[in-house]
Amino acid sequence: MNILEISKLYKTYGDQTILNDLSATISIPERIALLGKSGQGKSTLLRILCRLETQDLGGISFQGRSYLDMDVKEWRKKISYVSQQSYMLQGSVEDNLRTVSQLHRTDFDIALAKQLMAALNLEHLDWNKSSSELSGGEKQRVALARTLLLKPEVILLDEVTASLDMESKYAVETLLIDWQREKGNTFIWITHDLEQAERISNRIWFIEGGSLVEDGES
Ligand SMILES: Nc1ncnc2c1ncn2[C@@H]1O[C@H](COP(=O)(O)OP(=O)(O)O)[C@@H](O)[C@H]1O
Ligand SMILES: [Mg+2]
Repeated sequence: MNILEISKLYKTYGDQTILNDLSATISIPERIALLGKSGQGKSTLLRILCRLETQDLGGISFQGRSYLDMDVKEWRKKISYVSQQSYMLQGSVEDNLRTVSQLHRTDFDIALAKQLMAALNLEHLDWNKSSSELSGGEKQRVALARTLLLKPEVILLDEVTASLDMESKYAVETLLIDWQREKGNTFIWITHDLEQAERISNRIWFIEGGSLVEDGES
């Protein structure tokens, strides 16, 4: 059974066509780099895949189940999006980390949370600190840890290292590659950095004119 089947997606904003008959299949766990110029619909595609946006036409299936047959909340636990502008919930770092388990009524895995924070070079970040006092790069990494705590099957990453220094960027790459290998899940990672794309992916999607004009091994 395919992990994800994206079938003939069509999306417009006003008179602008963003996605035009875009299809793709993910049949085994993979690390996909999603490339393309600005404004080509990369973020729109990921936001549709996690159902933050709705396509005009076309469908998505996860493990053989149509998005129409799955509750949005259940869907987003399986297919989770980490946005470029990481949004923080009000409250402390710890509140942010705990939110997902509260939301999904699962136990908070504190050992995993600590492990993730350490792997993200945030070992020394005070968990009592207010999320509003974090730097952009800290927010981005806390948001990433928060999503990984959900253990999604498909992780959608939208330029998640854009505001990070080199050391943190590499830490994020290492964590996500190791995580993907260990858990056998899949990620789709939007990046503008070709070298990063080669480091992190085994498959590359290139989006242009609303569809994937290239889809191959990297
Ligand atoms: N909510 C929206 N309303 C109207 N236009 C939008 C909206 N979201 C994105 N767009 C437009 O759709 C196009 C594709 O955007 P986006 O998916 O963010 O591209 P990318 O991530 O590849 O840079 C852009 O021209 C953008 O301005
Ligand atoms: Mg974008």
